[in-house]
Formats: sequence, structure tokens, C-alpha cells
Amino acid sequence: MATINDNYLKLKAGYLFPEIARRVTAFAEANPEAQIIKLGIGDVTEPLPDACRAAMIQAVEDMGDRATFKGYGPEQGYAWLREKIAAHDFQSRGCDVDAAEIFVSDGSKCDTGNILDIFGHNNTIAVTDPVYPVYVDTNVMAGHTGSASDQGEFEGLIYLPITADNHFTAQIPAQKADLIYLCFPNNPTGATATKAHLQEWVDYARENGSIIFFDAAYEAFITDPDLPHSIYEIEGARECAIEFRSFSKNAGFTGTRCAFTVVPRSLTAKAADGSEVDLWKLWNRRQSTKFNGVSYIVQKGAEAVYSEEGQAQTKALVNFYLENAKIIREKLTAAGIQVYGGVNAPYVWVQTPNQLSSWDFFDKLLHTCNVVGTPGSGFGAAGEGYFRISAFNSRDNVEEAMRRITENVSV
Ligand code: MLT
Repeated sequence: MATINDNYLKLKAGYLFPEIARRVTAFAEANPEAQIIKLGIGDVTEPLPDACRAAMIQAVEDMGDRATFKGYGPEQGYAWLREKIAAHDFQSRGCDVDAAEIFVSDGSKCDTGNILDIFGHNNTIAVTDPVYPVYVDTNVMAGHTGSASDQGEFEGLIYLPITADNHFTAQIPAQKADLIYLCFPNNPTGATATKAHLQEWVDYARENGSIIFFDAAYEAFITDPDLPHSIYEIEGARECAIEFRSFSKNAGFTGTRCAFTVVPRSLTAKAADGSEVDLWKLWNRRQSTKFNGVSYIVQKGAEAVYSEEGQAQTKALVNFYLENAKIIREKLTAAGIQVYGGVNAPYVWVQTPNQLSSWDFFDKLLHTCNVVGTPGSGFGAAGEGYFRISAFNSRDNVEEAMRRITENVSV
């Protein structure tokens, strides 16, 4: 009989968001009259920007004419999209990133998991706690960990607690980590990192020969001009960092699917024989073997993000969700609930009132307010006692959810 990858058996029962969806479906079936408002998974609700839709409609027309029809595109993405990304997202901020270093993909979630294909199995891996669960689960699947403890911590990983005491930014570890996952603006806490903080990480990585996986999927939500949007704003980052970006949250592409990963040509890591190998080449080899690129139509939609109207429309979308985050923060704070994040990020990190556990608070909100959020403990042991509320929803739903919570939850 065929055998399985036993590492999958180490995983917790379900991926966090499907598990939440399962509980919500069960509640909805038992209470069909409940008007449930979902502020759990960070999925956008507002329509695609007009500029992106118009570009995609035109691209569909292109596909209908032999003269402009496209078959397989370049695995790395069309040059016209990569050039716009390089110019607008990096070079305009003084980052030395070339279009050739950008790999267009169908999502940052996939890329942050797939990147492990090009790294060895003996690396020491550091993640923050709480953390976006994909970073941990993909390492478990790849066999990079032992079993999970009762608190859900996997043996073999270095967990860096991010708490209110350290402003939800991880302290540099005393031990050596080879691969480090950082996410700013942070999912789930909504915290941001200063240039000085990222410089500490870059310096650490360069001293130790480590690679930083920098997930910047939420960079568009940064409004503070002093905060960095990219790790490449930090001196030395080209020698130690891979950055992940997405069109999901700024342009509403969660269902459309387009993202990109930056692998600088200057990045190397060691082979078993001790030689230094170019990571760009390995990632290019991986992508051209396992991936056939993002559809022409979707890349045309993504390209339109960089047009003048696309820029204005995506900015308006981001501002809309940031205003939701502000409403969430202000209403909960006025009700005496301690909140963090939600200023340069679409997530508000809530301390559960009355020392309720994260899942107890989840159940309370679902049952008494018919509002869904995400239990902090689902992001890691240090998330226990916290709860994430997403600002991705309509204004009416956000206001109604806050009304229900502030009227029904006593502190
Ligand atoms: C989240 O809610 O954490 C995100 O939506 C997950 C994702 O982007 O994959």
C-alpha cells in the first residue's frame, strides 16, 4: 500500500480559517434566523477597482482575437507588470529592486509555503508567536518540526513571543536562526515595525548567514510616513531577505489571485558541499518547473493598479478599510476593551475582556452577538487571551457588529 507524508499527522485538526467556518456553519444551521457578521478571515468585501476591471475586460477581448491571443505566459510573469512593480513599489522608495528580481504568482500564501522547496531540511526556523499559521504549518508538512505540545507549539521551531510588552515586535533571539519569518504590518496583531527594528533583524541575519522571509502583504495600509513599506528600505536587506507582496488586500484580489515575490540576485545560501548558491536561480528553477504563471487577464488587472486611476482607486479602498479599523478601535476602546493595532493595518488585536479564553470569547461573540472574529490562540500559544477583528467588511456591517458587541459584552 502507498504511504503518506506522516508529517501531516502532526498538524492540528484543521487549518484555522476552515475550522472557524465549520463552527460558524454549524451555528448558522442551528440558528437560521441569525444575521451573522463575519469579521474573521481577512477577506475583502468591496468590488474590484474600476481600472482593474476595465483592464481585465480588455484582456478578455485580447484573448478573443488571434492577433492578440496569449497562450502560456512567462513563468516569472509578464515583463510589463514586473517593470511597473519594480518602479512603483520599490524604486520610487529608493529600493534597489530590479524587474528581473520579481516573480509574479497567484498568492503570497502559496509563495510563503512554496519557498521552502529551495531550502534544506536542517535549517533552524524562527517564527513569532502569535503568527500567520501558514508559516508554521508548511514547515510541519515539510518535516522541519517534531510534534506539537498541548499548547500547539511544535518541537524544533524557535518561537519569538510578540506581546504588548514588546509592542508586538519580536526581540532578536540569543540563538542562531537560519530562516526567520517576519510579517509587517503584522498579521494578526496589526503591529508595525520601524526602520530601526528591521535594521536589527537585517544585521542579525547578515551576521548569522540567515534568510529573512518578509511578508509585506499589508504594506498598503501603512499611512505613517516614517514606517518602511519594504525590507529593501533597510541597508543590507538585499543580502539576506526575500519579500512577499500581494494584490489581495490593496486591490481586492483575494478571489482574483495575484501576488509577487522578490528574490534579489545578490542572495545566496549554502549547498551541502559548502559552496554558496544563488537563490534567485533556484526559485526560478522551482517556479518554471512547478508553476505556469498567472493568467494574462489577471496580470492585466494587476498592471492597472499602477495606472493613475488604479492608484487612486486602490488608495480609496485601503482608506475605506482603514476607516473601518478606526471605528472598531474607537468603539471597543470606548466600551472599555483594550485594543491594539488597526492604525497602519486592517487588523485590530483585542484583549479578551474578563480574562476569557480566545475560543470562549469567540463562542460568546458568535452566540450573543452573531459576530465572527478569529481567536488569538489560533495564531499561537501567546495569542491566548486575544482575539483578532478584521476591518474587511462593509461599513454597515462593521457599525452593526460594533453596536452588538458594545451593547452585549460587559467588561
Ligand atoms: C487572514 O485572515 O489571516 C488572511 O486572510 C489569510 C490570508 O490572507 O491567507
